[in-house]
Amino acid sequence: MIDRVEAIKTGALQDMEQVKESRQLEDWRVRYLGRKSDLTQVLRGIAALSPEDRKTVGAKAGEVKKLLETLLEQKQQELGSIQVTAAAKVADSFDITLPGRKPQVGRQHILTQTIEEIGAIFGSMGFDIQEGPEVELDYYNFEALNIPAEHPARDNMSTFWVDALDEKGQRSMLLHTHTTSVSARTIETRKPPIRVVEPGRVYRYEASDATHGWMFHQIDGVAVDKKITMGDLKGTLYEFARRFFGTGRGVRFRCDYFPFVEPGVEMAIECAVCKGAGCRLCKNSGWIEIAGAGMTHPMVLRRGGIDPDEYSSFAFGIGIDRLPMLRYGIDDIRLLYGSDLRFLRQF
Ligand code: DAH
Repeated sequence: MIDRVEAIKTGALQDMEQVKESRQLEDWRVRYLGRKSDLTQVLRGIAALSPEDRKTVGAKAGEVKKLLETLLEQKQQELGSIQVTAAAKVADSFDITLPGRKPQVGRQHILTQTIEEIGAIFGSMGFDIQEGPEVELDYYNFEALNIPAEHPARDNMSTFWVDALDEKGQRSMLLHTHTTSVSARTIETRKPPIRVVEPGRVYRYEASDATHGWMFHQIDGVAVDKKITMGDLKGTLYEFARRFFGTGRGVRFRCDYFPFVEPGVEMAIECAVCKGAGCRLCKNSGWIEIAGAGMTHPMVLRRGGIDPDEYSSFAFGIGIDRLPMLRYGIDDIRLLYGSDLRFLRQF
């Protein structure tokens, strides 16, 4: 038994001389000090020996174990310091004349830039900026805007409902389907004269394609004052289009229906991708609808505590995502939400 321990020691010492790097050292450790190593076997077997052998073999094996552990530690330090010297050499050879690496600077997302730009344009025309809740009551999203339960206009706005029932057991909360809900709040909380724009994310339970997403951005606006007319509405939106797209772009207003305005219009801009010739973005019409608008319905004003005989009001809701698409000729809305830096770094 003593010879076996002696042999282990000789083998371990010889092998250690070959160890030149930490991976080899780890192999050595497993071979000579690991759980399955000869030495461990010997130490485990000691209990079964005669009391006399137990003493001598035990002492010898313990001694060898200690020796091997010391060797291991020494070698670890040695190899560690070699690595440090190698690192120091690399540091010495650092070429300070090399051109530096440019730090990567982040930037605002194209949509954030657009929202700030639109806010600044309306700000210069005297509008305040106000945000409202995304999780909204049915009341402000629909009821206050002349869209009672069962109104067919609800079908156009496939809604994400929130699991919350009111005292009548009705679903009463949703993710707002348009920022017009914020205008309903503005009309209720502010006193005329009012000029406010309200940017926000809106949600619709719909499949996404090149021009639609289940989440997108809008900015609604509302102005309430004495003698506000349709001319004020058109002037404001024309001015916005001129400032955002420049003077060369065609702008078109056509009649449209929205329950919360009367009369109502839709505003379209000449398509940038095809310059009016027809393409995927404009669905071959040459025009892209960017906003709904109109003269705020007297019922909506009255519900918000404003007398429609004394005040009149215009309102509009602009789809934000399409604006950078129109300006830069981006033909798929999904690029805006794709987080692809190759795309985003262009703006
Ligand atoms: N909320 C409408 C929509 O999402 C857009 C809209 C139309 C907003 C007319 C308005 C408006 O403020 O007056 O389709």
